[in-house]
Amino acid sequence: MPDRFPYILVLYYSRQGATRALAERIAAGITSVAGIDARIRTVPPVSPTCEAVDPEIPEEGAVYVSLDDLRHASGLALGSPTRFGNMAAPLKHFLDSTTELWLSGALIDKPATAFTSTSSLHGGQETTLISMLLPLLHHGMVYAGLPYSETALTRTQGGGTPYGVSHLAGTRSDRPVDAEESELATAQGARLARLALALEKMREIR
Ligand SMILES: Cc1cc2nc3c(=O)[nH]c(=O)nc-3n(C[C@H](O)[C@H](O)[C@H](O)COP(=O)(O)O)c2cc1C
Repeated sequence: MPDRFPYILVLYYSRQGATRALAERIAAGITSVAGIDARIRTVPPVSPTCEAVDPEIPEEGAVYVSLDDLRHASGLALGSPTRFGNMAAPLKHFLDSTTELWLSGALIDKPATAFTSTSSLHGGQETTLISMLLPLLHHGMVYAGLPYSETALTRTQGGGTPYGVSHLAGTRSDRPVDAEESELATAQGARLARLALALEKMREIR
């Protein structure tokens, strides 16, 4: 059945739930804009044992992403916990499988954004966001962070950067998404949705 509306793919990896909590808030921001949906997907973990294969449907949480989820999306919000200042391997593993989308130009002129979670405040939020930006630029996507008109950027005591929203989970991963982080995630989702609708029109006249 064809989709009722265009949709934005909210694609994340999360081991302990912090990045997933941000993904849900970004999706809420997307669906606050009329005429566009959010499709939340995740990626399976990667294993040091090459033979290990996960079941196609995860036991809990979002469904695993397919290339078609990405191909037909009108925009992308990409989320990963920080792994030594970089995106997590399972997300990179999926991105490395997107060559056919790159060859066909399927993502050109579609908007994208990124989000992350760390255990420590200066533990690499910005570098992780930038690590996710790099493959998106190669795909020809139009990257959108957060403008400083979002005043929570100047008030936050935890996460939140102009490169995209972030979350400080703490060393025990028990710090919930706070008010500023939540506000920024929702604003980022809504902005991405507005951009997706505008760029859909632009692509029609290409
Ligand atoms: C292998 C590994 C590397 C990590 N590297 C960092 C890091 O560089 N900086 C940091 O602050 N946290 C680091 N962390 C902590 C996670 O980024 C943090 O707990 C995050 O909130 C987890 O998100 P999740 O709940 O979505 O899995 C690392 C965790 C692991 C397992």
